[in-house]
Amino acid sequence: MPKPGRDEGDLLGFVRRFADRSTFTVEEELGHGYVRLRVTEAERRQALQDIRCVEDVVKELVRNARDAGAREIYVSFQKERGRWRNVTVLDDGVGIPEPLHRKIFEARVTSKVDGVVEDAFGVHGRGMALFSIKQVAEEVRLIDSVEGRGTIIYTRLDTHKIPEKKDQSTFPRLERDEEGTVSVGGGPRNVPRVLAEYALGCKDVRIFLGSNAEILATLYHRSQELRKNWAAGTGDGAKPLWFDLGGAREGRALHLLAWERLGLNVSERNAFRILEYEIPPLLSVNEVLSEEGRDGPPRRSDLHRQARTVWVDHLARRLDQEDMEMISSSLGDLLRCIGERHLLLVEPPVIRRRKNRIIISLALHDKEESD
Ligand SMILES: Nc1ncnc2c1ncn2[C@@H]1O[C@H](COP(=O)(O)OP(=O)(O)O)[C@@H](O)[C@H]1O
Ligand SMILES: [Mg+2]
Repeated sequence: MPKPGRDEGDLLGFVRRFADRSTFTVEEELGHGYVRLRVTEAERRQALQDIRCVEDVVKELVRNARDAGAREIYVSFQKERGRWRNVTVLDDGVGIPEPLHRKIFEARVTSKVDGVVEDAFGVHGRGMALFSIKQVAEEVRLIDSVEGRGTIIYTRLDTHKIPEKKDQSTFPRLERDEEGTVSVGGGPRNVPRVLAEYALGCKDVRIFLGSNAEILATLYHRSQELRKNWAAGTGDGAKPLWFDLGGAREGRALHLLAWERLGLNVSERNAFRILEYEIPPLLSVNEVLSEEGRDGPPRRSDLHRQARTVWVDHLARRLDQEDMEMISSSLGDLLRCIGERHLLLVEPPVIRRRKNRIIISLALHDKEESD
């Protein structure tokens, strides 16, 4: 057989390109703008391999949120007993119509009908990511999705089967070129890096990363802001799925809302700590990355420095250290007197400031036992 000449090679390439495109034709119309694509077995296998690690899972879930036009994306990233990784991604994007809630986890189901989408992370839009995640995850579940209000997807991964980078605390180094454009430089290929790439790539989308409790704290305060706007008649857009959180007045109510509405498992105790500002809201990844003048790359802990404005309306903040010492010393004198009468030893008071109150804790001991 003669060796293929230049023209024949080109022709082959042309046929292949043509064949590839033909594999993306629609097999089934599912309504609401969704279709099931026809696709070759080879492509199916290729897409399955795309999910190799926890970072890939986060990348695909956040990518879907971004494609859905979300303005805010919350990634709850929590390890359990050193082995299981629980990931919940919450967004305020377009949402998924009810009849498609189960179908999105099937192979080749997509709303990205206009063809394959390519971004900095490569090709997608084949309707394979959620299906592939389902193959490798212990569990993947649509917690809720409402058209116009957003989507929440939860997944649980066994890191013995699907690994993750050990270091999940360091953000990548950022590099600035001559024109001042910032890009992601060296650093571990971890989840903070995936999110940094999105945050730099789409500046108008705010991305948050934290534990269940930290994400809940952030959503709680965000909801309070939104509710204030709505009450003042300046609320715009649809209400996101976390809109009701800010109405919670006690720990148990917040704990239940978090679990039942958002699929976030946060203890009653931690929910209480959120209400008391002991667990403050997170800064966004975008905010931390845009801070100047830091030595070395940012770290996860930098997300914890809550914006100062948040504290302004807290009455207890008006008491300073000196006031606290005055309270402590007068109380101490009084309690020594009272303690004498009841054979009680009273430890020096522990005073904490919480929102609009101060909490005083007094440990008591039996005087005779401790003599
Ligand atoms: N967070 C989300 N918000 C809105 N729609 C989503 C979200 N996640 C997934 N979907 C829908 O599910 C479909 C399937 O998702 P996926 O398996 O990642 O495939 P692809 O993104 O390639 O279409 C998407 O096309 C989209 O319509
Ligand atoms: Mg996708």
